[in-house]
Amino acid sequence: MLKVFIVTFFAFQLSASSNGQRVAVPFPKDKTIIIVEAMKSCIAKTGANPNFIDVIRSGKVSEDEKFKEFYYCTCNDTGFVNPDGHIKVKECIELFPKETQPLVEPVIKNCDKEEGVNKYDTLFKFLKCFQETSPVRVALA
Ligand SMILES: *[C@@H]1O[C@H](CO)[C@@H](O)[C@H](O)[C@H]1NC(C)=O
Repeated sequence: MLKVFIVTFFAFQLSASSNGQRVAVPFPKDKTIIIVEAMKSCIAKTGANPNFIDVIRSGKVSEDEKFKEFYYCTCNDTGFVNPDGHIKVKECIELFPKETQPLVEPVIKNCDKEEGVNKYDTLFKFLKCFQETSPVRVALA
């Protein structure tokens, strides 16, 4: 979601999966720009700590309520989340390179089953689940 995002460019490293590390695949360039812009705008809109962008980029999460709000705002502005906090499954899968879609599809569907106390928390639970269980993550170039 936006499991889900990084600053340094990572090449497609299949070998990384053999030592338990998740494979980083690049986001499509056009979507990267849109997402980065949305993140900046959402830091401003939610008053969240600008460090949260780096938290997401390093494939981590923060339990801070502001982080959840910021993440929801980013996914909402980019069209990846429904008003109830559940991810738009098809749009999310399509962010990944074709060859990795069969790997992430079951993870995305499974992680979307979690229900939080509100929409921010529901989306946060999805992100956390995705970060913890996906064999693939996306890297923001
Ligand atoms: C979600 O996006 C819509 C459309 O861009 C916007 O009108 C709405 O205010 C956003 N909601 C939140 C909570 O950011």
